[in-house]
Amino acid sequence: MIREVLRMGDARLLRVARPVSEFGTAQLAELLSDMRDTMAHLGGAGLAAPQIGVDLRVVIFGGRSNPRYPEAPPVPDTVLINPELTPFGEEEEEDWEGCLSVPGMRGWVPRWKRLYYSGQDENGRRFERRVDGFHARVVQHECDHLDGILYPMRIRDFRRFGYTDALNLPVAVADE
Ligand code: NI
Repeated sequence: MIREVLRMGDARLLRVARPVSEFGTAQLAELLSDMRDTMAHLGGAGLAAPQIGVDLRVVIFGGRSNPRYPEAPPVPDTVLINPELTPFGEEEEEDWEGCLSVPGMRGWVPRWKRLYYSGQDENGRRFERRVDGFHARVVQHECDHLDGILYPMRIRDFRRFGYTDALNLPVAVADE
């Protein structure tokens, strides 16, 4: 079922979400199904449970290849629950981001360039990956939602934050 995505200003987006403790439940399956439907409907690159008002540490992301990283492998469709992120090296990278909770806008956001992430899949099985580039960016964006952080809070230069149509960016940037 397609769910309403909360927009910046809604206090529910500012909560620190709770860990998932039970796997294989009908509620978790329904949540993931709703998240996939909602992300697909809006053409997003990722979605976090708090964006549909669910206070749990669950994110999904993946799908299409990114025009800004034509050489990079596409981000695999991923369910990541109770994630932990660990930067690998000190290097940062800045790039444009958009968010389904901040519709119609884009901002220039610093992120760790490389990181490890670990967590659980929808069956509770642990997995980990070492990633970089757009994959690393989307994971950081989604996991920020679990701690009540929206990308505008990370922007350093507000001259590079604005309405998508007014910014006239050279490449399409997906909402996350
Ligand atoms: Ni977002």
